[in-house]
Formats: sequence, C-alpha cells, structure tokens
Amino acid sequence: MIAFNNVTKSFVDKDGDFKAVDNVSLSVKSEEIFGIIGESGAGKSTLMRFINALEKPDAGQIVVDDIDVATLGGRRLRTHQKNIGMIFQQFNLLSNKTVEDNIKVPLELHRYNHPLPLDEVIKFVGLDDKRSSFPAELSGGQKQRVGIARALVTRPEILLCDEPTSALDEKTTEEITDVLRRAQMEFGMTVIIVTHELNVIKQLCDRAAVLEKGKLIDIIDVEQPTRMNSEQSYYDRILAVLKNG
Ligand SMILES: Nc1ncnc2c1ncn2[C@@H]1O[C@H](COP(=O)(O)OP(=O)(O)OP(=O)(O)O)[C@@H](O)[C@H]1O
Ligand SMILES: [Mg+2]
Repeated sequence: MIAFNNVTKSFVDKDGDFKAVDNVSLSVKSEEIFGIIGESGAGKSTLMRFINALEKPDAGQIVVDDIDVATLGGRRLRTHQKNIGMIFQQFNLLSNKTVEDNIKVPLELHRYNHPLPLDEVIKFVGLDDKRSSFPAELSGGQKQRVGIARALVTRPEILLCDEPTSALDEKTTEEITDVLRRAQMEFGMTVIIVTHELNVIKQLCDRAAVLEKGKLIDIIDVEQPTRMNSEQSYYDRILAVLKNG
C-alpha cells in the first residue's frame, strides 16, 4: 500500500511561497490502478514524485509498504527506487540506442534480482519486429511501448506513469492503456497514472484522485462516479464526462 498522510510541499514563485501540494492524505491499494487528475499546475507530478523520493515533502509522510520513505537513505533508498518503474509523456528514449538496447538500459545501471527475459518483455509490448530499430524509426505509440518495456524489464512492484498518453492520438492511447492494463494483470503491479485525459481514467483506473491547486478535492470510484463533497467546476466536468462521455 502507498499512503500519503497530510503531505504538503511549497515552492517559491514570483509572488512568493505557494503550496504545490496542500495537506493531501490518500492511500492507494496494492495492485490498484490509481489515477491522479487535475489541470496543469495542480500538483499531480509532484505528488507522484514523492513515491520514489524524487521530491521530499515539507510536512507529512509518504508510506510505502509500511516504510516512511523519508527515513530511507543509501542502499535502502536505492532498493526502494529500484522497485519502482516510471514511464513518461516524452518517452525519454536514447536516440542512439536500438529498441532492445533502450529496454536494457536499467539493467546496465543496477543489478536486479529477477529481471524479465528481454525476449519476453519485447513480445509482451508487441515490438518483436522492431527490436533493432532506432527511436527515430518508431511511431509515438511504439516509442511508448519501448518506455513500458524498459520499466517492466526490472519487474517493478510499483509503476508510475506521468501523462503516458498525452503525446498520442486517441486510437494509440487506447492501445497503450490496453498494454498497461495487461501489464498490471500479468505482473500484479500497483499502477499510478497522472493524466488530464478523462478517457484514460475511464479506460484504465479503479479510482482517481482529483487535485485542484494542490488540494485533494475527492477520490472518484471510476465505476460509480458520484458527487462527494465539492462544488468545484472542474470536478463537475470530470464527473459529467465519466458518467456520460
Ligand atoms: N522544482 C520546482 N520549483 C518550483 N516550482 C515547482 C517545482 N516543481 C513544480 N513546481 C510548481 O508546482 C506546481 C505544481 O507542479 P506539478 O508539476 O506537480 O503540476 P502538474 O499538475 O503535474 O502540472 P502539468 O499538468 O502541467 O504537468 C506548478 O505551479 C509548478 O510550476
Ligand atoms: Mg505534470
């Protein structure tokens, strides 16, 4: 389980201090696919980056499997981080490496106890015929499949996805959400997806947290989206789309 307990983080901008994440408490169940949704600047990426300690809170705790992430350092921190895969909007592939070599990158950086066989992971994401291609020779959807394979090859227990489909068209988005759903089922990971696309939440997530200006507005059960406790316009639109759209 991943728990955020009263987590707050401030940054400084031209008008002074502001809270990018403001007293957020929520928990994500093991093996859940959990969305984080909200407008640009709402604090979505910051919230996600706490989980692998790329960001540290000013107050509150992030607890992953009963361990307060802030107490980790050195080798224990690395072990924690190695257990978490990440995929990104802009794929972050190395342009001078083939598909196969891109997928192997994490294995060259760290020792993993149970990496997935390369053939298996390449087949899983459907890139068997592209293993010797370079990123420039791939479509956006194929590039994201490489990104997913690079995360899966280490067999992470947690997969963090920051806007994984925001650079892709609708059809490709569906293909990628399908790969992510299959990956969750096959490998039993906990998956957290930051997105501003409601169709991604609808296609993929069990629940989704709605953030506005750093504050947690609600957590929506995607199967049964009902109004809980808010009068926010952005939140209204989300509920309307998830119900009807
Ligand atoms: N390292 C930083 N230094 C200063 N301000 C930051 C830093 N990281 C994030 N912020 C600010 O904190 C706020 C939340 O940022 P965050 O990246 O979490 O938003 P987001 O919801 O992911 O937005 P987007 O949808 O545009 O990616 C923004 O106003 C951003 O400019
Ligand atoms: Mg972001």
